[in-house]
Amino acid sequence: MHEIHQLLRSHRSIRQFTDKPVSDELVADIVKTGLTAATSSNLQATTVIRVRDEKTRGVISEVGGGQTQIVDAPVFIVWCADLHRTRLACEMAGGSMTSGMTEQFIIATVDVSLAAQNAVIAAEAEGLGICYIGAIRNDPQVVTDLLELPDDVYPVFGMCLGYPDQDPEVKPRLPLDVVFKEERYEDGRDQDRIASYDEEMRQYYRTRTGGTKESSWSEEMAGLVGGERRPHMREFLARRGFELR
Ligand SMILES: Cc1cc2nc3c(=O)[nH]c(=O)nc-3n(C[C@H](O)[C@H](O)[C@H](O)COP(=O)(O)O)c2cc1C
Repeated sequence: MHEIHQLLRSHRSIRQFTDKPVSDELVADIVKTGLTAATSSNLQATTVIRVRDEKTRGVISEVGGGQTQIVDAPVFIVWCADLHRTRLACEMAGGSMTSGMTEQFIIATVDVSLAAQNAVIAAEAEGLGICYIGAIRNDPQVVTDLLELPDDVYPVFGMCLGYPDQDPEVKPRLPLDVVFKEERYEDGRDQDRIASYDEEMRQYYRTRTGGTKESSWSEEMAGLVGGERRPHMREFLARRGFELR
């Protein structure tokens, strides 16, 4: 197995960082490497905005439910899905963009995610830790206004980067045979497999929290998908030009 597997398998989200600065050059290199990810039809629908301003970070942290790493991380960036520039290019070529298609929304969001994860791998290879911040979508309009995002652009997630000041355990993933199927979606034994993963996760939470968190993956999922989450997103995306039709 190539050594990259080991690097990838040692990923864990980092939420506490040392004060050691991350050079601007390294940040630019990480983003540049991220952007070499495959991109649907070469659309390159990613824009990355680095936020240095403390006040802006403070507001974004509030949007994110008070997540302190948004303020404390040496580097905080926001990954945006961007069809504004695509519209510009289309008009430069004498065309006019048909916007609002669900397919465009998927393409742009996938593009951003691939580029971001590529950047994560580069960052972790450099000894940095990262934490994605999906919680910026608690109030994406506030983030949109702060970053002055034009129409056809929406903030997908934030990302904290810095040198780790903690060494959390790697979080176990679902057993491979729950996720990786042959020929067809065979799930006859998935309940048993998930039950054994639940036990593994229960132990993980116990160890990680010193016994204060008693939960399993299934219980976490029940809490997560049991109710509506960020129901404002559909209307927000429509306002941004991602109408979903
Ligand atoms: C798109 C996305 C959004 C996330 N948003 C947050 C967030 O707002 N705050 C946070 O602390 N972690 C966030 N995470 C981190 C996940 O909770 C974490 O990746 C997951 O629990 C697995 O743990 P691991 O990264 O340590 O393996 C996010 C991860 C992803 C991929």
